[in-house]
Amino acid sequence: MFRFMAIGDVTSPTAARALAATLWQVRREYSLDFVTVNAENAGFIIGPPADVALALLDGGADVLTGGNHILQNMSLQATLENDSRILRPANYPDAAPGFGYTVVPAKGLRVLVGNLLGRVHMDPPLDSPFDAAERILAREAGKYDLAFFDFHAEATGEKTALAAFLDGRVTVLFGTHTHVPTADDGVLPKGTGYVSDLGMCGARGGVLGMSEESVLSRYTTGLPTRFAPATGALYADAVIFSIDESKRRTVKTERVTLSLPAPTEPTRKPARR
Ligand SMILES: [Fe+2]
Repeated sequence: MFRFMAIGDVTSPTAARALAATLWQVRREYSLDFVTVNAENAGFIIGPPADVALALLDGGADVLTGGNHILQNMSLQATLENDSRILRPANYPDAAPGFGYTVVPAKGLRVLVGNLLGRVHMDPPLDSPFDAAERILAREAGKYDLAFFDFHAEATGEKTALAAFLDGRVTVLFGTHTHVPTADDGVLPKGTGYVSDLGMCGARGGVLGMSEESVLSRYTTGLPTRFAPATGALYADAVIFSIDESKRRTVKTERVTLSLPAPTEPTRKPARR
């Protein structure tokens, strides 16, 4: 059995470092063969600084996926151009920096990981994620064994529509972006493992990873406010997909919530600014 853990949106550099400090231990504890982390908010509402992204990869993530905020951290763009383990959505224009998918080896298999952005209530407006998925699968046909896609999208309807479109054609499709885990993890009729949203990695309390005060003041006054990260015990929502390698199908899904240790020093020296 090939065991793949997908971890939800990391909401701050502090949460990213706490996750990086414990991920190898998590891999051993759950007998994991592959781990992805959605890092599009790991710089706090923007993509992570390069040293935080590399800490997650050094810490035990095989691939980091992105979303609508990943390219908003300008300091990450050179890293995105050079390291295909950190993805931005594939349906960005071709001129955008970075990679929309990658193929990496794991347990003797070639694992394709793709990243797509939704178009319903999402910004920026991009090309069809359905067409982008189709193009990737056609271009890489015969060159991968397992295919995992992160669909970073707001609307559950759009996510479940893509699930119906890709069922039986990809091994796993998971949703990210809403920061709230959904209870629909399972195996679709043609063997694709699916969940509408993984949830998030960050501090308990607050509002989706941001402090209550900073969010409430925007809602109660209608005025623009500067968001601040939530504080409190750190956790990470994830789903484990158990995959039958011979049939290349998901056979079981399991939702887990990891308690993370208090943040430690970064596992990699921060880059000089
Ligand atoms: Fe997002």
